[in-house]
Amino acid sequence: MSSDKKNLTRSSIEDAMVKAKKTTGTELVPQSTDATQVSSAKIRYLDKNIVLSKTTRIPLNKEALKQKHIFLDTEDKNTAIAISAYRHLRTNILKTLNAFGGQTLLVTGPTASVGKTTTAINLAINIARHSQRTALLVDLDLRKPDLHKVFDFEPEFGVIDIIKGKTPLEDVLVSPQIERLTLLPGKEAYEDSSELLSTGAMSNLLQDLKSRYPERLVIIDSPPVLGGDHVEALSASVDACLIVVDKTNRKHELKETLRRVHDIKIAGYVLNRSLEAKFDRYYY
Ligand SMILES: Nc1ncnc2c1ncn2[C@@H]1O[C@H](COP(=O)(O)OP(=O)(O)O)[C@@H](O)[C@H]1O
Ligand SMILES: [Mg+2]
Repeated sequence: MSSDKKNLTRSSIEDAMVKAKKTTGTELVPQSTDATQVSSAKIRYLDKNIVLSKTTRIPLNKEALKQKHIFLDTEDKNTAIAISAYRHLRTNILKTLNAFGGQTLLVTGPTASVGKTTTAINLAINIARHSQRTALLVDLDLRKPDLHKVFDFEPEFGVIDIIKGKTPLEDVLVSPQIERLTLLPGKEAYEDSSELLSTGAMSNLLQDLKSRYPERLVIIDSPPVLGGDHVEALSASVDACLIVVDKTNRKHELKETLRRVHDIKIAGYVLNRSLEAKFDRYYY
């Protein structure tokens, strides 16, 4: 088996990242997270920076979040480990973005199901709850919009309705009743999505989100890099990206991903599910 065909490990990712840094000049923040258990939380709603009158409020479905590896409060050793990992990730990401005044972070990864959406949500929640920043979480995985599924609600409008000029931004925003967190969900899957992402309307929307809410961090859940040209279409409109990989990814997939995102600053990476094997041994 050639070294490119091997599965990724933490050290092989770090190797690839060092090489990527040499060729692209990007700065990397090694992180790993694990999400094997979920906790419940007492959460109140308060978001002063958004147009409250129009933002739809949804009930916080703690049970649905629990089953989807979204972490709110520490309940036990495993949730403590996961929340701590997301806290480190949050600290590093904020430090990297603050260093150059970046405000929009694209969360992506080579392939499907590596944990991009899970990471984007946990990171946004962690920023909203544990830093002074407010977070806006945007679902731009137009082909497979999952944000509303994880939060367990049926959106009336999706981000495509804004891009197509059918609905103003305010009508699409949703409050999940987590302090300082707002969602901009997708709705139905949309096939012609990479074309839509590269339109002026999309970059106008992202620009609008930045300039309307200068204190707000915009976290964008996005499609897999290797699944099409969606991420390239977004590259001019975002400030940095976070790359999520897991053990199923191969080195050549990471290499190709880094090649495709070469003109986006890499704010860090996450090796997702890195502790699963350890927990399996722990449990059985
Ligand atoms: N660290 C983790 N531990 C356990 N399950 C996870 C973890 N990260 C993600 N998952 C689960 O894996 C599935 C795919 O994750 P998701 O975030 O939707 O991936 P992507 O957005 O990359 O397609 C979901 O069911 C999610 O709950
Ligand atoms: Mg996803």
